[in-house]
Amino acid sequence: MASAWWQQGVIYQIYPRSFMDSNSDGVGDLQGIIERLDYLNDGTEQSLGIDAIWISPFYPSPMADFGYDVADYCNVDPMFGDLATFDTLVTEAHKRNIKIIVDFVPNHSSSQHDWFKTSRSSKDNSKRDWYIWKDAKADGSLPNNWQSVFGGPAWTLDETTGQYYFHQFDPAQPDLNWRNPDVKDAMLDVLRFWLERGVDGFRMDVVYMIWKHPDMPDHYSDARDVIDNSDLDEQHPAFDYPGIQDIFAEMRQILDEYDAIGIAEVWLSDEKRNAYFEHFEMPFNFDFLTYETRFKWDADFFRDAVEAYETSLPEGAFANYVLGSHDVPRLASRYDSQDRARQAAMLLLTLRGTPTLYNGDEIGMVNGDIAEDQLRDPQGINMGVEHTRDVCRTPMQWDDSDYAGFSTTETWLPVNEDYRVRNVALQDEDTTSILNLYRRLIWYRKHHPSLSIGTYQAIDVPDNIYAYLRQHEDEHHLIILNFGNTTQIVTFDGAGQIVMNTHLNRQDEIVNSQVEIASNEGVLIRLD
Ligand code: NOJ
Repeated sequence: MASAWWQQGVIYQIYPRSFMDSNSDGVGDLQGIIERLDYLNDGTEQSLGIDAIWISPFYPSPMADFGYDVADYCNVDPMFGDLATFDTLVTEAHKRNIKIIVDFVPNHSSSQHDWFKTSRSSKDNSKRDWYIWKDAKADGSLPNNWQSVFGGPAWTLDETTGQYYFHQFDPAQPDLNWRNPDVKDAMLDVLRFWLERGVDGFRMDVVYMIWKHPDMPDHYSDARDVIDNSDLDEQHPAFDYPGIQDIFAEMRQILDEYDAIGIAEVWLSDEKRNAYFEHFEMPFNFDFLTYETRFKWDADFFRDAVEAYETSLPEGAFANYVLGSHDVPRLASRYDSQDRARQAAMLLLTLRGTPTLYNGDEIGMVNGDIAEDQLRDPQGINMGVEHTRDVCRTPMQWDDSDYAGFSTTETWLPVNEDYRVRNVALQDEDTTSILNLYRRLIWYRKHHPSLSIGTYQAIDVPDNIYAYLRQHEDEHHLIILNFGNTTQIVTFDGAGQIVMNTHLNRQDEIVNSQVEIASNEGVLIRLD
């Protein structure tokens, strides 16, 4: 069977506030994305070569959670443009063979959404049951002991009616009540609205959270530590209840009508997450991004995680990998080295699975230095500067002009100080830059199916090395990554040629049954 575009493609996440500001207000916008489409893929190997962009929310929003608090699901916030700009974006992207994936935020709306405004206005209005309202317990305490992901109780008292409403995230993000069929219908219509405008798929925000335990009982403990993901299922005992599958089946049907894909954001254990393959092409694989794993830089960790994932995949499921996003510290900072950021690029783009990369990682952007008084992210404001996601949301560094070519004015988050030495323009000129490594990896992958849809097989290697074979028909590649502190000789069966190493300075070197790999280097070898 021919493989689908997303199995051979690379997805690029754009955080629209920080990608490109076309109208000089310090915040990125849709027109800015249009202006940078050629950078993403102009059909030549001078561009990045990605196949799809997933754009984080650009809908009307009071921005309590920077767009993940949606006040109107079927429009564009004036800050980002309007529907006509969105339509142009779709047309221009499609001209370049770039698919458009938009963010669908089903779990909660903004408290400024008309639905919620009506809902909170009285106890007996037509939208009251569109959200989750409860009385205090008989002793006057909160309806239950569930905590918000952003810290503090998941319940806020609304003085007008004296009841509490439920919110998994900020109080400005009330959870919708998907058990009400009218809510479900209205939200499914949102999918149709964007599909009619030509989108190719959705990334579905915390979609596993939409279906709560019917009785919403107290947790086994009121000390849920949202920072420790060591037991993701216990973290979320309230979700993923029977019945959710029926909703997913309806979503699937709609996606199929438009030949669109669904990417599910699911922070659950492997087993629970894998059940989502039944309805979605890509339940995001966060095995490298949980609180426990995101800082791990270790050959055995990566090999074991990949093997466990590979063997856990249900029949017919296609793997995917994520190494960065707008919710976690920058990859180059987590691994604390530009050399390792290069290795991470090679890993992400040579494993068997659809890669999703986050804007700015392709130039090795590092965490922004955000002072306490510059915090914007509600998670950081509520839980402390060490939890802020602002660090990975600073403006894209396009060139060394003021505001990094992102804007011409003060930007919503400060531009990173290193922008004069780390930017797209400089790296464009430098044939061995990390940007050029990403470009070469992406284009090479595009032309060599063994790297996307081929089989995966790890090989035996010395400590601190992770190496694997990828094969499709008569095409064989060997990838070797040295996570250790010393140069090592790795032996393997066969001979071949180095296609590229992570420093882009060993192209075409002939290798025969062994290869020397420096510390923090990776090589991609085409076997004869
Ligand atoms: C997951 C999103 O990725 C994150 O940025 C957001 O804060 C929460 N969902 C709530 O929508």
